[in-house]
Parts: sequence; structure tokens; C-alpha cells
Amino acid sequence: MTARMLFSVAAAALFAGQAYADGELNLYSSRHYDTDERLYSDFEDATGITINRIEGKADELIARMEAEGENSPADILLTVDTSRLERAKDAGVLQPIQSDVLEARIPSYLQDSDNEWFGFSQRARILFYDKNDVTDPPRTYQDLADPKYAGMICIRSGTNVYSQTILSALIEHLGVDAAKAWAEGVVANFARDPQGGDTDQLRGIVSGECDIAMSNTYYFGRALRKNVDGLSDSVDMVGWVFPNQDTIGAHMNLSGGGVAKNAPNKDNAILFMEYLASDQAQEYFSAGNDEYPAVPGVALSPSVAQLGMFKPDDVNLSDVAKNVPEAQKIFNEVGWK
Ligand SMILES: [Fe+2]
Repeated sequence: MTARMLFSVAAAALFAGQAYADGELNLYSSRHYDTDERLYSDFEDATGITINRIEGKADELIARMEAEGENSPADILLTVDTSRLERAKDAGVLQPIQSDVLEARIPSYLQDSDNEWFGFSQRARILFYDKNDVTDPPRTYQDLADPKYAGMICIRSGTNVYSQTILSALIEHLGVDAAKAWAEGVVANFARDPQGGDTDQLRGIVSGECDIAMSNTYYFGRALRKNVDGLSDSVDMVGWVFPNQDTIGAHMNLSGGGVAKNAPNKDNAILFMEYLASDQAQEYFSAGNDEYPAVPGVALSPSVAQLGMFKPDDVNLSDVAKNVPEAQKIFNEVGWK
């Protein structure tokens, strides 16, 4: 039985009583992963609903939904990073929804407390190091500020949402003063000024530009699964650490979405959200983009499983996202460009 047939059976079960929904779904998405194509085509095949996609940067899509107002054709906003989902909520472009399926399948710490957004996949932001040079790698985020790692760290810009959200989580756990002291210590340990994406931080270890890097897990998982230039050929020299396993756990972020405030196809929008929480879609988030499913118990793909099990930080991500303005302020004050 092929995956598509399996999904159809699951979809049929999920959409029992609705032989074939009709109409369409207008999806505003800032997920930047080609592998999502399959997510959309499987849904269309199973339901007969046509997905019309508008893709762009999250803040541009949010501004567009605001500008479109009541006439906005948007049904769903799909994006990565909690801080962006919170920005959409704060902008008033989402609406709370009721769904027993989402309530049952998405853990509460991965959903907005007012049901305006739900997380559908997770990613851990962890530490990587050069196994040839580093015999005593950092075991906690706090360790990154230890002067013994002076000149050794590649890390992303303070303007990047992944950086902002992890500092926001440290503010939530440690308080503003300790988080700022941490950021100062990390800046002192930079191997170079922040530049590039997560994959470039990992490439920095391979090229010898630095010995330690921070990245989301799926960028490394991807290099284990398929060829990533400047990384896959040398993955054997790269070690990884899930930080803070004895305390708060490894920082988790998510990719998720919400139903638009003026969704013209609200029922189809909720159906799509419930589909993203289905076993089939959840397994695909892992297999297609090396992410962790949001639904507990869903099988991990081999590249994700290869990273090993770990203790995730289950701090409420809605609370974390509220610290982003403070995090931006700290990055500016300590010169974390
Ligand atoms: Fe990403």
C-alpha cells in the first residue's frame, strides 16, 4: 500500500462523512521549505479542496492581511517561529478556533492560549562542535559565554528570529540581567561577526572558521539525509550537544499556523489545520524537512532519529514570544549585530 493510498485511507477516516469537500483554501505561507509541496498535494488529493498559495516573508504577509482587512482572501497563515505567530496575533489578523482534533493532538505548550495559532512541527536549537579540536564542548547555553571558548563560536545575527527567540527563552528562564550578561559573554567568544544562515554556521565548523556553532536541528538532519554543499562530506567531524539536559532542556521552536480573521473558507481552513495534525502530515514534517512532529508518538524519520532522544524545554512559547522586544534591545546593547 503506497503512502498516498495510506494517507487517503487516513484522510477518509479523518474526513469521514465528507466524501469530497469542495471549494478552495487560500494559504498565506512563509515556510521556506520546498518539501512542503507534498503536504499540499496530499491534502488536495484527499479532499478535493484546491489550495491557492501566496508565499512571502512572514511580516510582509501579516502586513498584507492587515491592509486587506475584511476583504482579505486569506484563510490560513502558516509560518515558522513563535515570535512571528505572536506578531500575527498581536496584529489582529488571526481568529480563535474550536477544534476537538487539534485540542486532542497538539500539546498545550505548543498552542496559543487563546487558540489563535497551533504548532505543527518542532525544531531544537542546539550546539555543534568540531570533534577534532573540541574535547570539552559546551553542555549548556550558558557555557557558550565561558571565556574558555573565546574566538571559537559561529552564531547567527541578533536580527534573526531564531536568535531572538532563543534569547527570549533565556530571559524567561534566567531573567533580563542574567540573559544580558550571557549575551555579552557570547559576543566576546565570537570567531567572527554574525553572518549567514544556520547551514553557514555549520559550514564554519567544517571550514575551520570556528569550532562551535548554534543551529536548528533540521539543517544538520538535512545534511545527514542528502547532499548539502560544504557540509555533508564532512559530517563525521561534527559533534552535537542537546544543551541543558539536567535543567531546562533544549530550546524548542516551532512552525505553525492560524486561521485568518476574515477567512472566507473557514471550514476548509480548520480542515487543513486538522490535516496538518494527522499522522500522515506529522510523519511528513519529519521525513520531508527533518523536523520533530508536534503530535506525541509520531514516528521520527531516520535522519531525525539519528540525532538521538533528548529532553526538550517545554516552556510556554507564547510567554517566550512576549520577550522578543527585550531580546532585540539586549542584542543592540551588547553589540550582537
Ligand atoms: Fe529555518
